[in-house]
Amino acid sequence: MKFFIDTANLDEIKEAAALGILDGVTTNPSLMAKVGIKGKDAVKQHYKTICELVNGDISAEIISTTYEEMIKEGKELAAIHPNIVVKVPMIKDGIKAIRYFTDNGIKTNCTLVFSPGQALLAAKAGATYVSPFIGRLDDVSTDGLNLISDIVQIYDNYLFDTQVLAASIRHPMHIIECAKRGADVITAPLSAIMALFNHPLTDKGLDIFLKDAEKWK
Ligand code: E4P
Repeated sequence: MKFFIDTANLDEIKEAAALGILDGVTTNPSLMAKVGIKGKDAVKQHYKTICELVNGDISAEIISTTYEEMIKEGKELAAIHPNIVVKVPMIKDGIKAIRYFTDNGIKTNCTLVFSPGQALLAAKAGATYVSPFIGRLDDVSTDGLNLISDIVQIYDNYLFDTQVLAASIRHPMHIIECAKRGADVITAPLSAIMALFNHPLTDKGLDIFLKDAEKWK
């Protein structure tokens, strides 16, 4: 199971990378805006910096919505670094664009996926990753984790190569449940990843061991 961090914040990326458990990064236009990146050149430079920090797949989202523009923008993003994965929205022109990118050796991440049918289309187009948004489904009283199970089952039935990248993760239990359901990748905020460390018995046990070690030092 791969661990991606879902942020454009360089300090958070560095902190997660330093743990030695980070396999990649996902971003989106909102995350880029959150860190104050403005303008096409600044965005490209930011992606380049992220690629230099993490040796893994880095999703860079296109903001075009027509096929021709998506191809142009996607090629520009893919040219930044070999690890760039072009993130494409789950719309008709997006699926056509994913087919083009797949046929031309450019990795893709089909984003804004909220149903098994959408995930099936992404796999048929040859997407490298599909991103079901579990937190946003939970937000509208629909069990986002069921979508992970459905997609994993469908992809397993037909041996699709597309990797299930569970996105819109809000807390550590989302990560654990995704692991149980067979997601290939999770992308999570730093807070959810760090929360996996926590257990009071670990803290208590370590405290006792260190105190006892004082006795024989
Ligand atoms: C990542 O690929 C997605 O864009 C991200 O996980 C969405 O998360 P959110 O629903 O918390 O905005």
